[in-house]
Amino acid sequence: MNIDDVKNIAVIGAGNMGHQISLLCAIHGYKTTCTDIEEDALKKAEAFADSYLPGRVKKGRLTQEQADQARALVSFTSSLEEAVKDADYVIEAVLEVLYLKRKTFADLDKMTPPHAILATNSSAIVSSRIADVTQRPEKVINLHFFNPALVMKLVEVVQGPHVSDETTEISLALCERLDKVGVHLKKEVEGFLLNRILRAIAREALWLLEMGVASFEDIDRAQVHGAGHPMGAFRLMDLTGIDLAYTMALERFRATGDPALLPSPSLVERYMKGHYGQKTGKGWYDYTENGG
Ligand code: 3HC
Repeated sequence: MNIDDVKNIAVIGAGNMGHQISLLCAIHGYKTTCTDIEEDALKKAEAFADSYLPGRVKKGRLTQEQADQARALVSFTSSLEEAVKDADYVIEAVLEVLYLKRKTFADLDKMTPPHAILATNSSAIVSSRIADVTQRPEKVINLHFFNPALVMKLVEVVQGPHVSDETTEISLALCERLDKVGVHLKKEVEGFLLNRILRAIAREALWLLEMGVASFEDIDRAQVHGAGHPMGAFRLMDLTGIDLAYTMALERFRATGDPALLPSPSLVERYMKGHYGQKTGKGWYDYTENGG
């Protein structure tokens, strides 16, 4: 198999990442099917496609013909089987819960053609913790996009010990076809590459906040105006989801037993209130109409 054999892509999960990855694939000429068990998430993903594509035409980023072609190539269904039966490449973007990923991959292994590559967009879970539920571990790989997936260029391609060179090469080639910068991680490492770096920054930012050194707004301002980052750690947490930051911190604590890795009190407080960031309208910042 080579990259030219990849024609149909299935994206599992229409949430924060899945809806954008689906559209990205369609914009780059792939017949793409996005699936989710939540009808509501599918409706939102479809509505996003219907507003995003005309917006790109208006901005002069896509021609009308390109936008129409992308819209025709992307479809949405709640049937996993329907979505993946003809897939050559699957990108899973379901919740960051190990048993859910393992169940999804066991199903995918039964429902997809034997040649299909099964990739996970997980932010934290290495594919060797999932691959053993399939009959094709050499085709199970991490393909890690960054939020917002339509914009951020980086994709981490993580080659675990079970992953074949062929799967890795096709995955890196797919990144190129999607106009992304694929970075090859030759070893599995918890947190991968960029999240380890971003996490170190976020941990320090949270510590400065908890110690009362500065407000979260000022910490963000320092990062933007002093280091030239596009957004500070708190604004970024709102974008990627406070629920994700919370779950990932707990996952790291469970894996290591190190209490220093537990979510900080102010993060827990927001999580408990359901203030997950942009997706709920409130996180560190307020995104509701009355918010700043
Ligand atoms: N969806 C799609 N496109 C978006 C978007 C979104 N949510 N937000 C912004 N864009 C597009 C805009 O349409 C615009 O496109 P154009 O230049 O072609 O017209 C472009 O991005 C710039 O947008 P804006 O001018 O409105 O805003 P900014 O210049 O402030 O950029 C940003 C917004 C791209 C989000 C920028 O602030 C940024 O790069 N932030 C850092 C994001 C980051 O670090 N992401 C990684 C998170 S870690 C992660 O995802 C890992 C995971 O495991 C958790």
